[in-house]
This record gives sequence, C-alpha cells and structure tokens, in this order.
Amino acid sequence: MQVKKAVFPVAGLGTRFLPATKASPKEMLPLIDKPLVHYVVEEAVAAGIEQILFVTGRGKRSIEDYFDIAFELEALLYDKGKDAELSQVREIAEMVKIFYVRQQQALGLGHAILCAREFVGEEPFAVLLGDDIIDAKRPCLAQLLDVHYKYQGTVLALEQVPMENISAYGCVKANRISDQIFEVIDMVEKPKREEAPSDLAIIGRYVLTPDIFPILESLEPGKGGEIQLTDAILTLLSEKAVYGCQFEGIRHDCGDKFGFLKATVDMALKRNEFNGRFRSFLRQRLEECDNDSNC
Ligand code: UTP
Repeated sequence: MQVKKAVFPVAGLGTRFLPATKASPKEMLPLIDKPLVHYVVEEAVAAGIEQILFVTGRGKRSIEDYFDIAFELEALLYDKGKDAELSQVREIAEMVKIFYVRQQQALGLGHAILCAREFVGEEPFAVLLGDDIIDAKRPCLAQLLDVHYKYQGTVLALEQVPMENISAYGCVKANRISDQIFEVIDMVEKPKREEAPSDLAIIGRYVLTPDIFPILESLEPGKGGEIQLTDAILTLLSEKAVYGCQFEGIRHDCGDKFGFLKATVDMALKRNEFNGRFRSFLRQRLEECDNDSNC
C-alpha cells in the first residue's frame, strides 16, 4: 500500500529554544526566508505524501495561518503588481492537503501520534518532526519509504552520532542487513553514554503502521513522564520486525540553538542569490576574530 498520509507532531513546547519559542512555535523559526516546517512539508510532498495532519497545541496558530490562503496579503500583492511574491505566497497554501488536530496537553511524542489515529485509519503512515531539517539528494522520507516498500514494516531514520551526544536521542541496537538498512533488535530512549547499545540515533523521520496505536493507547509514561514513541516501537518489536534506514544526507537539528545556527550558515553558503557575498563575509569575520580575543 502506498504511503500517502503524514503526521507532523508540532505540539511540543520547544524549551531548548527559549525565549524565542515563548510566544511563537519553533517550527516557524525561519531558515533564511522559510520557516522550518516549510522545508519539512516540501520533503514530505517530494516523497509522494498527499495529506498531512498537524498535531498542534496552544500557541501554534501561526502554523495554520502560514499554510492557509492570506486574502489581504494576496490582494495587496496583486494591487502592487508583485506577481512573483503573489504566486510564492499562493503556492504555500496549495502545496498539499492539510488537516489539524489539537493535542490538549503535551504528554509526549507517543501521545501526539495517538491523536492522529482517526486521520490515519488502517494505512501505513509517515511521521516527520519539524525541527530535523535534512538536506539530501533523495528526500530522506523517500529513502525510508524504499525500505518500507521492500520489507513492509516500521522504518526508523538512523544517524551515526558522536557517542558524547547519544544521550540526547533514542538509540538502537541493530543488525546491518545491507549498506543502509538495519534490522532493529533493541532500543533505549536517551541512554546514558555508557549504557548506549550503539552510536546509531533515531532521528525525526518514521514510517509507522497502524498497529502502533493499540500499543500507544495502553502505554504508561516513560522517560521524562512522557508517553514515548520509542517505548511503543520497542513493544512492537516483540511482535514484528522493525527496520532502520541510515539515510544519505545532512541532518540539522534546528530545535537546538547551535544546530539552527549551523543550518542557517550551511544554507546561506549554498544560496545562489547571495552570490558568494556570504562566503566573503564569513571569511572576513573569521580573520578579524582570529586577531580579536573578544570575538
Ligand atoms: P521534542 O522532544 O523535541 O520536544 O519533541 P519539544 O518540546 O518540541 O522541544 P524541546 O526539547 O523542549 O526543546 C519532539 C517532537 O514531538 C513533538 C514536538 O513538537 C517535536 O516535533 N511533541 C512533543 C508533540 O507534538 N507533543 C508532545 O507532547 C511532545
């Protein structure tokens, strides 16, 4: 069965990015000129997704406004003859069919996914987290879907991370099946470095099957008092095979200040419109900084 639906859980509080996230969602932080979530929707659409459900919460209205038609703005752009901007703004509202559901309390990622049960029905579906921005030739989700279509099961995106960072992630123990594909044997959410079974971290892309819902429904809160998706997948593992895809591409953790900064610099260096100006600026600043102890 083709995967046509995707769930975007965006109800988290974004505490790593305070105070910027006090009054606006982290998914709306702009990477140059587009909010983070726009890049992730583009990835989903490029991978063949036709319907997206945002699991939202308090203070997330700007995400709905962003993907809606903006009548006043469009009328203004039309009157001023700003055709390029008008079509750019209009295209955002036409990218994909979007639905919304509220997660009334931020009880964890697993709970957010459970809120998508009615939307998903009996089909396999994708989950994309809005703060992982993945720069890849073939969209990361499309790489996961290749694995799903081959093995018909749950697929997690995996990335090798330095061991000193592993405790920030869900971590897997897994057997390598081929270059990029693993069969997952065990998983731990945010393990201590010395207890981590590997350096393979689960990052924010998943292909799930509806058999995750009854498990989520009966799950007790785990690490951090939250209903953890990792715990649910671990339970699923005792019944069904779960696969990992070590995707090709560069991931930026934009929910973290330093990761966001790196993503901004990386994208700016690749943007033709800056025509080398940004590169020259960086070079100059780095030279100045080398000679300035306050830098
Ligand atoms: P994170 O663990 O990154 O949490 O959630 P967060 O609240 O967004 O950010 P920090 O860590 O406090 O800075 C992973 C994903 O799950 C969603 C978040 O929006 C994010 O996309 N999420 C998390 C929910 O939708 N609901 C929740 O209850 C928790």
